Amino acid sequence: MKIRTLALAACAAAAMTAIALPAAAQGNGKIKVGLMLPYTGTFAALGTAIENGFRLYIAEQGGKLAGREIEFVKVDDESNPAKATDNVNKLVKRDNVDVLVGTVHSGVAMAMAKVAKDTGTLLIVPNAGADAVTGAMCSPNIFRSSFSNWQPGYAMGEVMAKKGHKTAVTITWKYAAGDESVGGFKDAFQKAGGKVVKELSLPFPNVEFQALLTEIAALKPDAVYTFFAGGGAVKFVKDYAAAGLKKSIPLYGAGFLTDGTLNAQGADADGLLTTLHYGDSLGTPRDNAFRLAYAKAYKLQPDVYAVQGYDAAQMLAAGLGAAKGNVSNKAAFTEGIRKARIDSPRGAFMLSKSHNPVQDIYLRQVGDKENKVIGVASKALADPARGCRM
Ligand code: PHB
Repeated sequence: MKIRTLALAACAAAAMTAIALPAAAQGNGKIKVGLMLPYTGTFAALGTAIENGFRLYIAEQGGKLAGREIEFVKVDDESNPAKATDNVNKLVKRDNVDVLVGTVHSGVAMAMAKVAKDTGTLLIVPNAGADAVTGAMCSPNIFRSSFSNWQPGYAMGEVMAKKGHKTAVTITWKYAAGDESVGGFKDAFQKAGGKVVKELSLPFPNVEFQALLTEIAALKPDAVYTFFAGGGAVKFVKDYAAAGLKKSIPLYGAGFLTDGTLNAQGADADGLLTTLHYGDSLGTPRDNAFRLAYAKAYKLQPDVYAVQGYDAAQMLAAGLGAAKGNVSNKAAFTEGIRKARIDSPRGAFMLSKSHNPVQDIYLRQVGDKENKVIGVASKALADPARGCRM
């Protein structure tokens, strides 16, 4: 009797474990990917480009990675940090996804990283640059296919100092991405003897720039460094030109300022210099093939977000391949991504010890509705991964 009771209890426990286990570990064949991205708001187009890129790579593999079909569960995170923990918990606890992929906004990504760290769920971040994701929050199960906010900022600090600018004003949204992009910029600009005379900001995702532009005109710095992206970047570039500042005070930025935005910005973006890990005119066979395939599939030109989505899928493929399609073999999965050389359209890269791409940061200039690559601002730049113990 006692033995029977024990056996029943063991069966019940096993059944419960099976229910709690993610789909692929239950052996139903499909890998369940939880896509948490913005599909509304100022970053909506960025979310779509990431998903497009992600799906393109999987389609190129015949719809399967490591022999497993891929199934998607999608959440619109609205770039809203207040809803982020609930949204990610839905994917992890209700939908039992095998892998989380997201997101764009650094504040939302921080909530995703926290849940991923606490639950051990695999997470691939296809944009958000929050330094802590591969810094203080770094974890064996968290990876990034994009950049840290520090990286393009640091590269631009060197560029602006080399151009002879001695003073700068910074302007951005007041949240992790803006603060950290400016932080990277200051690290390099100040090291080279430059002075940041004022740090201006406004709450995310506000676009009432007028008072701040008036302040820039009064401060008369040698140059301006900025981080804006998506819809906000479109408006900022247009407002900067309309205020008459473009002619008098050169504007520079992390490349998001002009990526995926050029059709809407028109001539107001012409000539702008930005730094980023991708550009429109790399001209490599790998990038040419990617651009052609993307344009064919979506009737759209790809941008940096599409590349990051594509590479997130490549990283997933590397992990799954090493784990022979068994996502519950997290050690093999992790090792597979860590050792992978990702054949990215941006140029091949590998991950740092903290799981952030070590990559060239290009200097780009806007012309003919393209971010033309005019040089490498920083070769094989690695994020300092402050606070990462791994
Ligand atoms: C971020 O919040 O980390 C972020 C958002 C949009 C970008 C880049 C970074 O284009």
